[in-house]
Amino acid sequence: MDRIIIKGGQPLLGTIPVSGAKNSALKLQAAALLTADELVLGNMPSLADTRFFCDLLATLGNPDGGSVDWPAGTSVARFRFDRIGSTFASYDLVRKMRASFNVLGPLLAREGEARVSLPGGCAIGARPVDLHLKALEALGAEIALEDGYVIARAPRGLKGAEIIFPFVSVGATEHAMLASVLAEGETIIENAAREPEIIDLAECLTAMGARISGAGGTTIRITGVSRLHGAHFAVMPDRIEAGTYALAAAAAGGDVLLHGARAGHLSSLLQVLRQSGARTNIEADGVRIAREPGRPRPVDIETRPFPGFPTDLQAQFMGYVCTAEGASIIRETIFENRFMHVPELMRMGADIHIRGNEAVVRGVPLLRGAPVMATDLRASVSLVVAGLAAQGETLVNRVYHLDRGFERLEEKLTACGAKVARI
Ligand code: EPZ
Repeated sequence: MDRIIIKGGQPLLGTIPVSGAKNSALKLQAAALLTADELVLGNMPSLADTRFFCDLLATLGNPDGGSVDWPAGTSVARFRFDRIGSTFASYDLVRKMRASFNVLGPLLAREGEARVSLPGGCAIGARPVDLHLKALEALGAEIALEDGYVIARAPRGLKGAEIIFPFVSVGATEHAMLASVLAEGETIIENAAREPEIIDLAECLTAMGARISGAGGTTIRITGVSRLHGAHFAVMPDRIEAGTYALAAAAAGGDVLLHGARAGHLSSLLQVLRQSGARTNIEADGVRIAREPGRPRPVDIETRPFPGFPTDLQAQFMGYVCTAEGASIIRETIFENRFMHVPELMRMGADIHIRGNEAVVRGVPLLRGAPVMATDLRASVSLVVAGLAAQGETLVNRVYHLDRGFERLEEKLTACGAKVARI
């Protein structure tokens, strides 16, 4: 099994190109099921998750093949679902990647039926899908749960409706959008998620002929159309990847241009980076982060839906403030079990106490490299951030978590002077 070895203490100097956003790409791939024409997605990040989603989509397309074409080494993927060959997504597929559940809405919208496995729990929390199902029911779907599967039917098609979410869910908002673009009449989504990925999905669906307004705000209005057509669309830059490298540069010290990063996607992070003593500069082609040697200032954060501080950067932020000159309080409000990096950071010498959904991180002068492992993607990469700043060698196990969400991680860091290798 691959491992990543990091010799810490090198400043990061140079340019890191930001890849396409995993969490947007996965929903755009699901959108391809909504049309019989070709959807061409550019700036696709070649990751274990996006490749896996292609494998799943291929099982749903024309049984004679040809529905998915994404040559290795390229960032352009072509999807053509001239016919849907199957409306079934098995437990095995959905268990391996939760985002697979997002095929339910498009299959239901296009074919009037689908049988998709419930995703089950996840390392970072229970992550139920009740809001997804309520949204589909509001659109007129009949939903039954049998043997761990969602069996959804809409024999006379979906009908526009008012969907009021009791709290913000990125996935449920996206799922409601994916299902309602082909529903008859108007759908209004209230208390919608405002993440940039929602805007990306709305823009892609609009390019396919959907009628959507308000994406990026709390109310999204969708007027259903009878069919969608093909389109060419480029996936937005990955704000979590960009934010991770911003924190890596701040932690290790140095000066890095995150090429292609959009400052508006990163405003909450850039604010806390500045509070901690890092310099941030918005440039024409990206965002620059620099920090002089020395310990950062402590900063408290609380994770929140966009535009708040993203839960997907919480672990990496913790890796950064482990060496702050004082204590930082980190409150996780989105997922109930997202502190699994804490024991690993402590193995590197961090001083962290957990009280419920809060972690108190008392800065230590120095972290020391150690063998570490983590149980999810963002937790794993927080150990890379800590390892880059630490003294000595850090060996990150279970690299397959990193491969789910970070394209060419070692190559991008090495190009900036880091000593990182896959063994
Ligand atoms: C998306 O997950 C992302 N995943 C997550 O990134 C990200 O952490 C999360 O949004 C929050 O930003 C993808 O886009 C593939 P939610 P999602 O629905 O949509 C609860 C990563 O590392 N909830 O906004 O599943 C839920 O349990 C991943 O890339 C319900 O109770 O997140 C959570 O507490 C991890 N019922 C909260 O809402 C529901 O039906 C917010 O989750 C749906 C969600």
